[in-house]
Amino acid sequence: MGTSFHPIFSIFTFISILISTFSTSHSQDCNTYTFSNNNHYTTCITLPLLNSHLHWNYHPTNATVDVAFRHTGVSTSQWVAWALNLQGSGMVGAQALVALIASNGSVRAYTSSVSGYGTGMGPTRLSFDVPNISAVVVNGDVVIYASLVLGGGRTSYNQVWQVGPVSDGAPAIHQMGPDNRKSVGTVDFVSGLASGDGGDVGGSRRRRRNIHGVLNAASWGLMMPMGAMAARYLKVFNSPNPAWFYIHVTCQVSAYSVGVAGWVTGLKLGSDSVGIKYDTHRNIGIALFALGTLQAFALLLRPKPENKYRFYWNIYHHSIGYTVIILSIINVFKGFDILDPEKKWKKAYIGMLIFLGVNAVILETYTWVVVLKRKKDNKRAHVGNGYSLST
Ligand SMILES: *[C@@H]1O[C@H](CO)[C@@H](O)[C@H](O)[C@H]1NC(C)=O
Ligand SMILES: *[C@@H]1O[C@H](CO)[C@@H](O)[C@H](O)[C@H]1NC(C)=O
Ligand SMILES: *[C@@H]1O[C@H](CO)[C@@H](O)[C@H](O)[C@H]1NC(C)=O
Repeated sequence: MGTSFHPIFSIFTFISILISTFSTSHSQDCNTYTFSNNNHYTTCITLPLLNSHLHWNYHPTNATVDVAFRHTGVSTSQWVAWALNLQGSGMVGAQALVALIASNGSVRAYTSSVSGYGTGMGPTRLSFDVPNISAVVVNGDVVIYASLVLGGGRTSYNQVWQVGPVSDGAPAIHQMGPDNRKSVGTVDFVSGLASGDGGDVGGSRRRRRNIHGVLNAASWGLMMPMGAMAARYLKVFNSPNPAWFYIHVTCQVSAYSVGVAGWVTGLKLGSDSVGIKYDTHRNIGIALFALGTLQAFALLLRPKPENKYRFYWNIYHHSIGYTVIILSIINVFKGFDILDPEKKWKKAYIGMLIFLGVNAVILETYTWVVVLKRKKDNKRAHVGNGYSLST
């Protein structure tokens, strides 16, 4: 039997890799970047999507901002653009700085005022003055340097940034993936505050959403089903010795603790998201917290096995337990739809569920074989003390 649960340890390994990946993938701080032309920028933000950073110096005396827009991991035959939108938001009306990386690796920078969705992103003048613009490709990063004479009166603008392929030496239409559609936000050149991806502050919101996703998918979405499996399947093999009980309690108490932390991050994200409400996800989350807490109390109020109420307690504990597992899995998928991470995370989670499901089917079959065999043996021995799965 012991061998059947070894995979659980590989799940924990997987979860720790997942957590460390998320916590390191954002660790490159925009403040530590050294520009090849030795320019120094006092403010920078990491934009939440498309591996982009914006660095700038704002001069209040002439309302001019010197910006450096940096996009990492570029390839040849690619364009990148960063724009302010003075009148509206998003792509239409964007006053863009464009860098075009040709197939021979040469890079050209120019400005382009985007009049509509059918734009060819050709070089045009902007609604404000750009006395200089240039771009370089260094170590796989493309950097656009420019000075924007914005004029007084405002320092906060809508911004939009994008990357796309180059075809016949000109920008071609960009992909329509979630990151390409959500790469909009605001930037304030004086306060240094920026938002993007529905209210992001310098990418930290995206990071918080990722942490929320990992904590909850790992606890409610994986550890709790594993704890339930531990109770159901270990019990058969340890009936005289309650090892399964301690394993089950340890699993569920750790899952619940991590789950509550994840739940709190969710509440915080929910209260911070302006204008966007994820009601179903939120309500299921609140229900899960209530039911999970009820299960914790169930542990404390558990009657002794010989107590006449123990039968009802079992029904209560099992029905809430299975409800929590089903709701958790539904809510993890709802969360995937909201967070919209790279496909590999959803695939990895589905893979883990299939893995748990296959194990559950094998163990369930094995359990029934063992139980039926015991019943048969007991009958033969005329002993009326058969093992029952319902206790
Ligand atoms: C704006 O002012 C700053 C410093 O005050 C100066 O370095 C910069 O050249 C000026 N920019 C323009 C476009 O006049
Ligand atoms: C690279 O290609 C562009 C046009 O695609 C051309 O203008 C430029 O001169 C080429 N540069 C080199 C170094 O060959
Ligand atoms: C751009 O032009 C302004 C004013 O002419 C100058 O102050 C600034 O240093 C220039 N920036 C770059 C990156 O060349």
